[in-house]
Amino acid sequence: MSSEVATDLQAFLRDHDERIHEELFDFLRIPSVSAKAEHNGDTKRAAEWVKASLEKIGITARIYPTAGHPVVVGEWRNAPDAPTVLIYGHYDVQPAEPLDLWTSPPFEPTVRDGKIFARGSVDDKGQLFLHIKALEAHLATRGKLPVNVVVIAEGEEEVGSEHLARFVADQKQLLRADAVVISDSAMFAPGLPSILSSLRGLAYFEINVEGPSSDLHSGSYGGAIVNPAMALARILATFHDENGHIAIPGFYDKVREWDPRIREQMRSLPYSDKNLIEETSVDALGGERGYTTLEKLWIRPTCEVNGLLSGYTGEGAKTVLPAKAMAKVSCRLVPDQDPAEIEKLLKAHIAKVAPKGVTVRVETLHGGQPWRAELNGPIYDAARTALRAAFGKEPVITGEGGSIPVVGDFEKILGAPVVLVGFGLPGENAHAPDEWMSDENFRVGMRAMAMLWDEYAKNGKR
Ligand code: BES
Ligand code: ZN
Repeated sequence: MSSEVATDLQAFLRDHDERIHEELFDFLRIPSVSAKAEHNGDTKRAAEWVKASLEKIGITARIYPTAGHPVVVGEWRNAPDAPTVLIYGHYDVQPAEPLDLWTSPPFEPTVRDGKIFARGSVDDKGQLFLHIKALEAHLATRGKLPVNVVVIAEGEEEVGSEHLARFVADQKQLLRADAVVISDSAMFAPGLPSILSSLRGLAYFEINVEGPSSDLHSGSYGGAIVNPAMALARILATFHDENGHIAIPGFYDKVREWDPRIREQMRSLPYSDKNLIEETSVDALGGERGYTTLEKLWIRPTCEVNGLLSGYTGEGAKTVLPAKAMAKVSCRLVPDQDPAEIEKLLKAHIAKVAPKGVTVRVETLHGGQPWRAELNGPIYDAARTALRAAFGKEPVITGEGGSIPVVGDFEKILGAPVVLVGFGLPGENAHAPDEWMSDENFRVGMRAMAMLWDEYAKNGKR
């Protein structure tokens, strides 16, 4: 078994490095913010850009409209006996605000200190694009791919992939594959290639508390009227007990025990709480008692306030009793919790603890299933070999606190194992100002993924 990235592929990627970067920067200049209707035109333009970039390298591609943002699918099935891989990524990005906190504008990609700064650089345009270029390296140097490839790029990942599961189910035949490979996550540390063993799921809610029909003078009415802001605060305070455990009845019922070997592996990763304290500029960590920090982040569920709104928030003081209050709350879920069941439990709990005198409405915004990897089989073996060769280091198995909603659907609907190999890095500022992708990881990622297909072809199907 060869243990190096083939020289023709390496040479191609090296010789075309400048052009490849120019193309990536073109992609990054499109403000494809899926959450904002004002960017619908840009989001569509990004889909067209992806389609064109696939066609340019010899992959047949088509745009499929959905009730939301379109899906792009590229197909190359000219390797008769070889396995088929489905590569997934997303071309949409998070909103860039607050703009004044960016060192350079979010949609004007800039390289500083070996980092490509731009909204979507690492999440996920850079990681999607490195796959397309790895495929180009094969097609341009050898005129073919060693495996059959389907590329699917969606435009709604950052808003919950609402229409994608339906699309995958409807297009099961088009998308049929032996394995799914996704790069939309981070490595554990610089130079340390990582394969993800799990993702958390998500159940996202908006809670609205309504009291009097309008804001009231807090002197004339305060004391006799139930204050919606206080009522909301009370409700939110019932979500956890004093040990940081979630106190919503039934919340943990479906939580599956973790394999002790995976927990052991997690403990062996080079990690210290100090890193996280420094990275986030806090003076202490919090959370659920009885678990290590990585366990709290990767294998335990959460229930967190994401936003709060009520009353007077302008300059100075205004004596007012607010008519309403609102909170956005998201629960990150772990196998085998189910977003729909969590919704029922949360609603029942809130109905029980909500005080009289206010009306409480709970609305579900979106959800996604949690996921745990099998971590074995030919695609995993190939991924390990390719990462080891490209980075010169044995890959580690990590977990992830974030969510990629479609992962569980791919596994269920297509019956194919999913491998998550990410090339982000800690501190990459995904979803935040000054998002960046390591330029080094972008390059090594292309080489690793180019090698992956040679290895997977060698290993054959399941
Ligand atoms: N790339 C992330 C998922 C992720 C986050 C992987 C952190 C590794 C580390 C993805 O684009 C994302 O942000 N997903 C959303 C999904 C949600 C909107 C349903 C998330 O986790 O918040
Ligand atoms: Zn994201």
